[in-house]
Amino acid sequence: MASINLKNLKVEAKKGIEKADNLKDLDEIFRKYLGKKGKITLIFNSLKKLPLNKRKKLGREANLVKIGLEKLIREKTQKFKEEIRAESLGKEKIDITRPGKKVKIGHLHPLTLVQREVEEIFQSMGFSVITGPEVETEWYNFDALNIPKDHPARDMWDTFWLRQNESKNQKSKIKNNGLLLRTHTSPVQVRYMEKHNPPLRIIVPGRCFRHEATDASHEIQFYQLEGLVVDKNISAANFRAIIEEFLKRFLKTDIEIRLRPSFFPFTEPSFEIDVRRKKGKWVEMMGAGMVHPNVFKAAGLIPNAPAGGWQGFAFGAGLDRLAMLKYKINDIRLFYSGDLRFLKQF
Ligand code: DAH
Repeated sequence: MASINLKNLKVEAKKGIEKADNLKDLDEIFRKYLGKKGKITLIFNSLKKLPLNKRKKLGREANLVKIGLEKLIREKTQKFKEEIRAESLGKEKIDITRPGKKVKIGHLHPLTLVQREVEEIFQSMGFSVITGPEVETEWYNFDALNIPKDHPARDMWDTFWLRQNESKNQKSKIKNNGLLLRTHTSPVQVRYMEKHNPPLRIIVPGRCFRHEATDASHEIQFYQLEGLVVDKNISAANFRAIIEEFLKRFLKTDIEIRLRPSFFPFTEPSFEIDVRRKKGKWVEMMGAGMVHPNVFKAAGLIPNAPAGGWQGFAFGAGLDRLAMLKYKINDIRLFYSGDLRFLKQF
């Protein structure tokens, strides 16, 4: 009885395989006969109820049917797969003449672009580009620049202190071990003059830090451009000429500048420089002045007061401010926001 049943199943399954049109049909047939609850599987399951000799005979027959059907299904599956592959190969073409995908390349940050442009202009006027440390000693940042402890001018810089000075002796570079994030690039003036004899012309671009509330024109980090020219008879008139030339070339328009009296401990006299485009509003651009004799002394040079020594001018401008003026940017925080909508415009 089971034997007849097996033969019928075999014929039935074979027909099914022949009729199968696709992989899905084949899968269904496999499940119907050979799957967990498949008709042939059920025959295997029923074997244990049979006496030994019948069990052996039917078992062998069922196994042969199973192997035969598996082979048919495997062969037809393979055939379908090959057909599918051939079809997709026919459809998929690689067009090597199509333009490639563009790799997106970034570009330099607007502040870096401005810094490079500024450096180029000054280099063409004979200046060297110098850098100094961002972590600075209290001595170079303040004392050597004629800003003694308790001098009210120190209030102008809200400093990020890394280490407070432990010594009471403010007049000593060695004993004062205060450490800070530099609040301006001016300390590089002294560092440079200690190692180089005048005549000299340098600019010092660099990052500075101040502990202050941020708004559209203040950031806790910003870039400055320091300048220093020292020789035997450098005057404020030389300064005016150089800075006017620089601003004209940098802003690429006709501009006017004016010098206003001001105060910085490291210059005497000191002035503030304002700039305006034709008939525009005056914009405060930088501080400057004639290098104070005490700064020369701190650097180990002999000042020209009373006579026979060195003299010169120094200036300090905000690179961010220069960039803002050039590109008409109204918020300094944009430079540090990493906002691509802003950065892509440069
Ligand atoms: N260091 C000053 C500041 O951060 C700017 C400055 C003013 C630099 C006058 C100078 C100078 O060299 O002569 O505000």
